[in-house]
Amino acid sequence: MTKVLTFASTKGGTGKSTLCVNLAAFFAQCGKRVTVLDVDPQKSSYDWIKESSDELLSLISAVHLTEERQIESVIADTDSDIVCIDLQGSLNNSPLFALAIADIILVPCRPSRDDIIGLGWILKLHEMAAEKFPTSEAKVIAILNAVNARSVIYSHTKAQIKADNITLISNPVTQTVAFAEANINRVSVFDSNGKAKNIMHNVGSELSEHLFQ
Ligand SMILES: Nc1ncnc2c1ncn2[C@@H]1O[C@H](COP(=O)(O)OP(=O)(O)O)[C@@H](O)[C@H]1O
Ligand SMILES: [Mg+2]
Repeated sequence: MTKVLTFASTKGGTGKSTLCVNLAAFFAQCGKRVTVLDVDPQKSSYDWIKESSDELLSLISAVHLTEERQIESVIADTDSDIVCIDLQGSLNNSPLFALAIADIILVPCRPSRDDIIGLGWILKLHEMAAEKFPTSEAKVIAILNAVNARSVIYSHTKAQIKADNITLISNPVTQTVAFAEANINRVSVFDSNGKAKNIMHNVGSELSEHLFQ
């Protein structure tokens, strides 16, 4: 049974594509067959994988779709264990099907008030998706990205997400230049030796428990 992990936020720049490509690399490293479905016109994750000569990223099938309604047939035809859907950050183009078909909707949030508000919008879209597609079993999980773990705004954002009873990935993803460098060099952070690799390993393991157990 193919699992679907949809990366969503109503804002751009929260880390959807960064986490999508690096977590796809994590699943590939675990021996899973992985497809990245990029539904963002900017096609950042599609280009990242297609332009890569990295061994791990070459294991991932990358597909770019111009319309959300094409997702269903790609998922129906795939033999992948997991499909990672990378969405554009916008409220105008409500991606209800991509949310409904997910096992997990992963919402990257930077530590900011705007990101908490954006998370609220995704919860509303999740409700609308469940109404339109009543068989949906999608679950929303937030992940804090690009954080400085000692900052007050990080503690505040984390407390707010917990107070709202939203499941939060226990490890935050810190602000680490290795993520930006991996993008520029068209590799994943598993190509490096620093803390970004450990963070992605921990986040990937936590998501695997939700998805595969
Ligand atoms: N944890 C992080 N540490 C440092 N830079 C990051 C981190 N996460 C994302 N970035 C950088 O932030 C920018 C936006 O990230 P991106 O994944 O493209 O966001 P989105 O897909 O949500 O628009 C990129 O330049 C990326 O390299
Ligand atoms: Mg993106």
